[in-house]
Amino acid sequence: MTKPVNPQKLDGHASSGHDVPKISLRNLSVTYPSGDGTPVKVVQDVSLDVSPGQFVSIVGPSGCGKSTLLRVLSGLLEPASGTALVDGNPVTHAKDRVGFMFQRDTLLPWASAEENILVGAELARIPPQYIAERVKSLIGFLRLAGFEKNLPHQLSGGMRQRVALGRLLAYEPEIFLMDEPFGALDSQTKSAMGRELLRIWTEHRRSVLFVTHDIEEAVTLSDRVVVLSARPGRVKLDVNVDFERPRDPKVLRKDIRFIEMVDRIWSALDLQPI
Ligand SMILES: Nc1ncnc2c1ncn2[C@@H]1O[C@H](COP(=O)(O)OP(=O)(O)OP(=O)(O)O)[C@@H](O)[C@H]1O
Ligand SMILES: [Mg+2]
Repeated sequence: MTKPVNPQKLDGHASSGHDVPKISLRNLSVTYPSGDGTPVKVVQDVSLDVSPGQFVSIVGPSGCGKSTLLRVLSGLLEPASGTALVDGNPVTHAKDRVGFMFQRDTLLPWASAEENILVGAELARIPPQYIAERVKSLIGFLRLAGFEKNLPHQLSGGMRQRVALGRLLAYEPEIFLMDEPFGALDSQTKSAMGRELLRIWTEHRRSVLFVTHDIEEAVTLSDRVVVLSARPGRVKLDVNVDFERPRDPKVLRKDIRFIEMVDRIWSALDLQPI
């Protein structure tokens, strides 16, 4: 049987073919200068593809280069060697398609919830007449109605992260780079935010690279979990997570396959006994 021609490929752009990974890291190595000026390798020979709409988590020991990988993908950092591609093109051409969410609360402290979301909408260069409507709909979608005029310090930790999610969504990136976005939250709020994120992901089907230290969170949310070794970070394990969605964390955590998968990832992390 002949393979159907992908019409989006006919115009010569490698950019939107279904067989082109959304994100592609090829033999990526990254070095930083150390205190005495000699380069230190923090990421070594990492190759990793993320398909369109795929949710991939990255776990690995502290300092192994997880944030560094996201920085390269957002075009903020040049690798020492190898390539980082978005839709088959260098990331430097795709900066406006990539959205970042950090663990740290990066909301503007003097701006209300709604103004913080507005920042994302303005960056997205949405026609001005649609901006207010977009922000309002996101406030509703993220269940922040009634709190839109509150400043960040007048919101709970979970609400602040929902505002940060709203800012990310308002920007409408094609790729979500999320660096421990719920790391500072307690476990119940974290789990509620995971549900929120999956609700968004199910609706928008963006490619997600999600960094976390929480292995159960990684397995619960993701299609794949990639384990990096200690610095310099290399891909040590790449696990396909094939549990059916929607997933109920209460059921999943008792599933023997889930327990074994979490255990396999823990073992690959090779943490020292305490
Ligand atoms: N700007 C920089 N200059 C020099 N070294 C850096 C710089 N940024 C990070 N590093 C070093 O690179 C290594 C990887 O850092 P990175 O922040 O990517 O780790 P990480 O895997 O995200 O760790 P964590 O889980 O603690 O967030 C660390 O050893 C860190 O000290
Ligand atoms: Mg980090």
